Amino acid sequence: MIRTLLVSVAAAGLLAACSTTAGAPVTPPTAEAPMAQLVQDIHSYAQPNEARVTDVALDLAADFDRKVLSGTATLSVQTAPDADELILDVRDLTIRDVTIDGRSVPWTVGEARPYLGSPLTIQITPDADQVIVSYETRPGAAALQWLSPEQTAGGVQPFMFSQGQAILTRTWVPTQDSPGIRQTYSARIVAPEALSVVMSAEHLTPEGEPAGPGMRAWRFRMDNRVPPYLMAIAIGDIAFEATGPRSGVFTEPSTLEASADEMVDLEQMIEAAEGLYGPYRWGRYDLLILPPSFPFGGMENPRLTFATPTIIAGDRSLVSLVAHELAHSWSGNLVTNATWSDFWLNEGFTVYFENRIMEQVYGRDRAMMEQVLGWDSLQATLADLPAADTHLFIDLASRDPDDGLTDVAYEKGAFFLRTIERIVGRDRFDAYLRGYFDRHAFQPMTTTQFLADLREHLIRGDPALEQALMIDAWVYGPGLPSNVEEPHAVAFDRVDAAVAAYVASGNAAAIPWAGWSTQERQRFLGELPDEIATDRLASLDQALGLSASGNAEVLFAWLMIAIENRYEPAVPSLEHFLTSMGRRKFVLPLFRALMEEDTWGQTLARRIYAEARPGYHSVTTGSVDAVVGVPG
Ligand code: BES
Ligand code: ZN
Repeated sequence: MIRTLLVSVAAAGLLAACSTTAGAPVTPPTAEAPMAQLVQDIHSYAQPNEARVTDVALDLAADFDRKVLSGTATLSVQTAPDADELILDVRDLTIRDVTIDGRSVPWTVGEARPYLGSPLTIQITPDADQVIVSYETRPGAAALQWLSPEQTAGGVQPFMFSQGQAILTRTWVPTQDSPGIRQTYSARIVAPEALSVVMSAEHLTPEGEPAGPGMRAWRFRMDNRVPPYLMAIAIGDIAFEATGPRSGVFTEPSTLEASADEMVDLEQMIEAAEGLYGPYRWGRYDLLILPPSFPFGGMENPRLTFATPTIIAGDRSLVSLVAHELAHSWSGNLVTNATWSDFWLNEGFTVYFENRIMEQVYGRDRAMMEQVLGWDSLQATLADLPAADTHLFIDLASRDPDDGLTDVAYEKGAFFLRTIERIVGRDRFDAYLRGYFDRHAFQPMTTTQFLADLREHLIRGDPALEQALMIDAWVYGPGLPSNVEEPHAVAFDRVDAAVAAYVASGNAAAIPWAGWSTQERQRFLGELPDEIATDRLASLDQALGLSASGNAEVLFAWLMIAIENRYEPAVPSLEHFLTSMGRRKFVLPLFRALMEEDTWGQTLARRIYAEARPGYHSVTTGSVDAVVGVPG
């Protein structure tokens, strides 16, 4: 069974192979301070040590008929004394004009490379401090999805949302699109008056303000410096309900009640997180539950996590995803991977932190079950990947950063931190982590810098500890080092016994399904034998209601089993699932599994994909196209 968390398929690119090097510790650039030197990011054309964007002010109008955003980006820049060029990242943008002090200046858009886009090179002088780029996005902008009313829950108004990570922000904002380059940002967005605009920033005009016939304008401001992949926008028929004094849920009106009910523990999660690693530094923490085509489970856009509606299970069983995105407010948004090769610093820390929040709010049993599910998923990933891709720090030269989006960054990263925790003790590790977030708040972090920080503040020259931790094996070596400890969940012993009993008897009615949590159900389905006879699948489906499950994780696990056993009666459920949501974590493995089932599966895959593809975001089609082929 394929259990890889997030797998991507990226065409081999043609990037110049220039290697990432560790730089000096980075201090916040301010108007007075000299520019701190940044490490080179192979996924950005920017030369931030020559001229660096420090603030982006957007003034854009959303045109739903043409599916474009158009207007200006006013970039504040900081320059080195000899600067003569400002280089931005752009992909599929139509640049109309670039001005400095009201005068047009020379600019060029270089040749486009796969997934990187082009450099936009602007001639400047060292005294330039503001550059205004007048531009328009294209209808196919990879970050943006423009949904027709039929693709929304309400069915009446259109919807648009962005997904910036990893390097898609350059398809809607002309800026230096590297996670090592932090910028404050503000925006004024004009949209049709029936719609609301939300962004990953402070909402300065919660109701919008008049902006000409039939239009309203919405203003936003993010005063914390953030990497560009965290700029985010959504426009649609969006309502809000508070879940606490500083938290709440945005979503379409028809999904508001269910969404807010699911999130009753949000405030408690924020408090648990603060208790672990220090104050939440972003003001509000709201969630935006998107239409079902949202390609990820969640995206940690600051102040406003974007999330898939597939986490609304009705019983709060999938809220670890919210704990995860919330945890990114420290690991990722506060201390940020300097390049995409350092991605494990974002995700590994966050999976570790997420599980600590879950333990605090829902107890140790729940947290351990989730660790074990993560462990199993990691084992499957490690068995699949080439050894070099199982290192925490990975070489992405000539590759799409999406290639690093595997369980290695997430789960191996988390097990590395759990290993440190076990060896030094929880109190000591917690104190270290809290200090780490404080020392490096609002700064980029390379793997080398993290290891240096760990040695300086935790290991402190203790040779026995240095040896026990096996740091270099974890970070620069394959697989799992020998000091890892496999997690154990008591609840799963009972589930495993039920699997054994079921395999022996074939009696589906005896499975204590109704008394199980979602995690126990996932375990049960994950532990079933690879090959199951049709009559057994039929009785399982009937006894457990699998094809009709309203829990996306359970349904997904069942549909994988059904495909691998060519269980025809589950096809309508499969078809409905694949055409009603576009979360890549579900969509891609299901299509992959179908394609492995010869003519039976391939015919089905092509038919369902032709129907489903128009509803998917480019992140999902980009991956599935490479597996199924582009229909038509
Ligand atoms: N930041 C990621 C999503 C992401 C990573 C988008 C890289 C684009 C490039 C987010 O925090 C995440 O990890 N989401 C997971 C859920 C999580 C609980 C593992 C997802 O979307 O499934
Ligand atoms: Zn994450």
